[in-house]
Amino acid sequence: MVKSESIQRIKSLSGVLELPGDKSISHRYAMLGALAAGTSELRNFAVARDCHSTLGCLKSLGAEIKINGSTVQITGRGLCGLKSSWRTLDAENSGTTIRLLSGILSGQSFTTKITGDSSLQKRPMKRVITPLREMGADIRGRDDNFPPLEIHGGKLHAIHYQMPMASAQVKSAVLLAGLYADGETSVTEPAATRDHTELALQVFDAPVRKQGRTIFVQGIAAANGNAALRPVSLDVPGDLSSAVFFIAAASLLPESNLYIGNVGLNPTRSAILDFFNQMGAVVSVLNLQSKAGELVGDLSVKGAQLKGGLISGDLVPLLIDELPMLAALGPYTEQGIEIRDAGELRVKESDRIAALAENLKRMSAKVEERPDGLRVEGRTAGPLHGAEIDPRGDHRIAMAFAVAGLAASGETRILDADCAAVSYPNFFSELRRLAES
Ligand code: S3P
Repeated sequence: MVKSESIQRIKSLSGVLELPGDKSISHRYAMLGALAAGTSELRNFAVARDCHSTLGCLKSLGAEIKINGSTVQITGRGLCGLKSSWRTLDAENSGTTIRLLSGILSGQSFTTKITGDSSLQKRPMKRVITPLREMGADIRGRDDNFPPLEIHGGKLHAIHYQMPMASAQVKSAVLLAGLYADGETSVTEPAATRDHTELALQVFDAPVRKQGRTIFVQGIAAANGNAALRPVSLDVPGDLSSAVFFIAAASLLPESNLYIGNVGLNPTRSAILDFFNQMGAVVSVLNLQSKAGELVGDLSVKGAQLKGGLISGDLVPLLIDELPMLAALGPYTEQGIEIRDAGELRVKESDRIAALAENLKRMSAKVEERPDGLRVEGRTAGPLHGAEIDPRGDHRIAMAFAVAGLAASGETRILDADCAAVSYPNFFSELRRLAES
């Protein structure tokens, strides 16, 4: 455990906030940049440690990468221009890095070993191994499921993959491998998930199209060994999933008045804003525009009384990364928060259902933990008290409880608070800057 952070009750959260670049989009732009022929410039690239794990892996695979503040220049040598790495790639804490790269590595003419930290080594990879094997890749993992993975790339064939689960990472791994397959690969998802891979493939000039819940990509590397994507010059929108902690904090504190500039508002990510407004929050979107297929806008957030609500079914994949924050807001809402159909939360950076239940109880919330979610009682169950929070190394748990602590009595101490850097290195300093006591 490293640095802890002390959180006290504050009156409001006000001012102007600019967010670091979106994590999901940054991963994808970096990977496709490494497969393009020439130099791409990515501005407002995520400062998130996860995205720098992706850059580290791409460097080991021979991409040339220059980082200047939040601008990343990445030079690729075409789809078949990556080099084998003598060292094991380290995805650190990043599920997106290992799962998406597995798709790309399956199509290479060399073998790669890839692993991650102790949390990542416990996360299931069978979900990508299964379809990639079906395409012809030879992938080995511990217990045929966990990192380290050894990926023997080779010739791939196109498949149609009916995904058994709603996961943007699985969809993306198959689509990226599809660039290397002979023919047209397609993926059908059971429920909508974030579509940044499809949008990014289009921007980098890959032959991709969508029909309902099915996405098709034409293999180009198998047909032409020199095939490449087009290098791009792009701005990464601010990360809505990081904004959510500040939206929640401002909503929670009645006198707040917060303006958040340049936020990614892709419709497969922005269901959280509708959910906040349904709960009675006062969040409005301004200056909406489209950049490289991604919607971007500013947000204005004012303090409100939150009603609470139920998240289940097809809404779960659209709010997946926001569920920790919603659950931690539960005790401050009128009816509480209930989450169902979200067993996936148990295999994220931590077992988020267990981490939420344990830490909410430490703050004296009334919580019922269930296999696929939890029920957090609302205000009538009594006020929250500050407590020592163990985020279990999970960035989103650390940030969610920092926000919950802003309206609790006494001190909330977030242990191992540095883990927030996985997605938002300046989270605590930005929180302090905007806090009014
Ligand atoms: C992500 C997809 C989601 C999400 C993760 C980022 C992505 O994971 O939870 O934080 O960038 O594709 P799943 O695909 O496992 O749902």
